[in-house]
Amino acid sequence: MKNTVLTFREAKEKGEKLTMLTAYDYSTAKLIDEAGVNSILVGDSLGNVILGYEDTLSVTMEDMIHHGAAVARGAKNALVIIDMPFMSYQTSVYDAVVNAGRLMKEGRAGAVKLEGGKEVCPQIKAIVAAGIPVVAHLGLTPQSINAFGGFKVQGKNEAAAKKLMEDAKAIEEAGAFAVVLECVPAKLAELITKELRIPTIGIGAGNICDGQVLVYQDMLGMFSDFTPKFVKRFATVGEVMKEAFSAYCREVQEGTFPAKEHEYTIADDVLEKLY
Ligand code: KIV
Repeated sequence: MKNTVLTFREAKEKGEKLTMLTAYDYSTAKLIDEAGVNSILVGDSLGNVILGYEDTLSVTMEDMIHHGAAVARGAKNALVIIDMPFMSYQTSVYDAVVNAGRLMKEGRAGAVKLEGGKEVCPQIKAIVAAGIPVVAHLGLTPQSINAFGGFKVQGKNEAAAKKLMEDAKAIEEAGAFAVVLECVPAKLAELITKELRIPTIGIGAGNICDGQVLVYQDMLGMFSDFTPKFVKRFATVGEVMKEAFSAYCREVQEGTFPAKEHEYTIADDVLEKLY
């Protein structure tokens, strides 16, 4: 069954949990899609896990379109959401609509995601008015890492918790169809989830959220630069990959790979003519 914005709305109404994972390429998107995950996020976390940057600030529109289109080709049923990169929407409402449009036209997204609360509501309204579904992102918003002074849990004190709740209500009012809550205390995320009509998707926000998202390299144990507290390793694929790469080196060096079954043949009489 094809997942759409309606899937998100119905899941919230029925109290069914939504699943979301990141992907940045065709093969991984295909595997995630075949596993039945509701939605694939082409996150700007690709800056960290694919491109090796320290943060997400250098990710470009071209990066997101290039990887988004590859994911869209691999995802038959999952709703593909592409992140709007840093400075592709903060600069103006016009830029936001033009760039969201490019992610839909060139990246073949089913929806876009952007970070921020009240301050980006004019952008959300305009993008939604252009017929493009929007997911908002609150809490620890990595594009504002320099303003936060590091990767820190958000909404811990009264003023910050109040602001998060107000932002959540504002982005819902502006027309977002879902919101990612990142690094938010579980009880605050629960309260926001109960107040909103749109689904909350948590990452480091407890298990009362309407759905969950993880970066796939984190949950497969493929990325070790840093591992936040909220990550659960569902497999140690990184170890399996390293063992396979070592086995390949060993067999090539020993001359046991390629073996007979990996060779192509040629008729002897053709070969004889070469002598
Ligand atoms: O970029 C990303 O992968 C994200 C998730 C962590 C929610 O925004």
